[in-house]
Amino acid sequence: MAEWVPVFRGEELPPGLMRVVTIGDQRILVANVEGTFYAIGAVCTHTEGYLDEGYIEDRTVVCPIHFSRFSLISGEVVEGPAEEPEPTYPVEVRNGIVYVQR
Ligand code: FES
Repeated sequence: MAEWVPVFRGEELPPGLMRVVTIGDQRILVANVEGTFYAIGAVCTHTEGYLDEGYIEDRTVVCPIHFSRFSLISGEVVEGPAEEPEPTYPVEVRNGIVYVQR
């Protein structure tokens, strides 16, 4: 069953930054894109690079291993070599706390 998990205070992650959170055995990348929080898988669908060790470029995250780019908003592949999109997770902010649904 879907569950909302509090992950951190919204003020801890200013616009343009991202961080990884671990929920159960899932690594999830939470990013602040122009003031709105989004969550996608944090493990590259190519050969499992950690996207949180990459960098943000325009509303995308660039994998540090072979430089695939994924949309932080939709999880879609913007540039390969990856072919599979990242999963996305709903995000809400309640009373200043960021929640991710898994
Ligand atoms: S592991 Fe991410 S692009 Fe290859």
